[in-house]
Amino acid sequence: MKSLNQFVQEYFEESKALLTSFYPGLREDTFKRDLELYLFGVESDQNQRLKETPYLKGIQQNVSKFINQVEKGTPLPYITGKSYFYRNEFLVNSDVLIPRSETEILVEDASNFLKQNQNGDTQHVLEVGTGSGALILSLLSEVDFGVSAKASDISSKALDVARKNFFLLKFGIHSDTTLDFICSDRLSFLENKEQKFDLIVSNPPYIKRKGDSSLVHPKVHEFEPHQALYLDDENYNSWFEKFFLQVRNSLKTGGAFLMEGHENHLNELKDLAKTLGFQNVELKKDYCDRWRFLKMKN
Ligand SMILES: C[S@@+](CC[C@H](N)C(=O)[O-])C[C@H]1O[C@@H](n2cnc3c(N)ncnc32)[C@H](O)[C@@H]1O
Repeated sequence: MKSLNQFVQEYFEESKALLTSFYPGLREDTFKRDLELYLFGVESDQNQRLKETPYLKGIQQNVSKFINQVEKGTPLPYITGKSYFYRNEFLVNSDVLIPRSETEILVEDASNFLKQNQNGDTQHVLEVGTGSGALILSLLSEVDFGVSAKASDISSKALDVARKNFFLLKFGIHSDTTLDFICSDRLSFLENKEQKFDLIVSNPPYIKRKGDSSLVHPKVHEFEPHQALYLDDENYNSWFEKFFLQVRNSLKTGGAFLMEGHENHLNELKDLAKTLGFQNVELKKDYCDRWRFLKMKN
């Protein structure tokens, strides 16, 4: 009798062209891992579970459901409900952006800042636009001291996902750390409040809805939340101007703001930040040599 592993192997061979058109660079082993995650909730060593499972009626229905979604080009993390980022697995669904590997650079820079800035006083950290919580939770897992953190998002559904991820990853975060989730447009929840932060991080929406549309993969546009991706072209600069002014009002002197952005627009945002009075405004490249990060101090 055919094993599930044999079935998947044959399916992958026959459908490789279609699959790689949806998922560029998809390999058979990662495809099998995702199927295991979908069917069994866990992956096994060398796809052992697929090898041991006979391809019988009971399982065929679930495999078909997986393949139906795959053949629509649904991003694999939305099918399995899980995505890997930095050192952890995160729950994801279509209410949140699938965390991208380049954002891991922000985790590294932000954790280096916190480590260098650590002087015994509790540091205050804010993430704006937390989505799944991948960035703030990776940052909090990375430091071996307590931090007072807040994570905001305009989407309450995204915050539900982030809260679940916090619950699952809590054990890897210093016990003195606190993390509050806040539903807010940028930093509006701080209006009329005196609270100041040592560090603010953000991977905000930064694609121009019209101007950049040809640069967005159609499956990203089709499946990922538009609120996480796009800003209107005509409001782009004013959106960031309000954001930067709020950040400037909420950062301590010497505090840092680290942000991911679009390689075609970061230069302009760098000039804007300088005009608004930020110090040490710098751009940083990602691992593909693209200018993707903006760093500044108050
Ligand atoms: C590019 S995603 C980043 C998600 C996550 N931080 C990550 O890096 O994977 C941007 C996030 O910002 C949120 N967002 C969009 N507009 C916002 C606003 N005006 N205020 C706060 N959050 C906003 C979106 O809901 C989304 O979760």
